[in-house]
Amino acid sequence: MEEIIRTVEKCPSGALSYSLDGVEHRDPDRDPLITVLKDDPYCVTGGIEVVGHESRAEAVSNEHCTLCRCGSSKNKPFCDGTHWEIGFTDGDS
Ligand code: FES
Repeated sequence: MEEIIRTVEKCPSGALSYSLDGVEHRDPDRDPLITVLKDDPYCVTGGIEVVGHESRAEAVSNEHCTLCRCGSSKNKPFCDGTHWEIGFTDGDS
């Protein structure tokens, strides 16, 4: 169960949720944070507002998102997974 919860909380779009005792959990309560992981997009959590883009789909989270760091997303500023296709890396660091 904890692995499922962790997976839902990592969902970049926020489209996933889980229910415990009939209560739906979609967005965790976290402090604002931007995380950079090697070879991955920026992970924005904690409800930081992203401005300057077209509106997002209704099913996505306003609590977290991933922002493109490779420059090749077709849905900028958001990551659309293209970094996997192009083999984006941070190099040897
Ligand atoms: S970092 Fe994911 S598409 Fe650019």
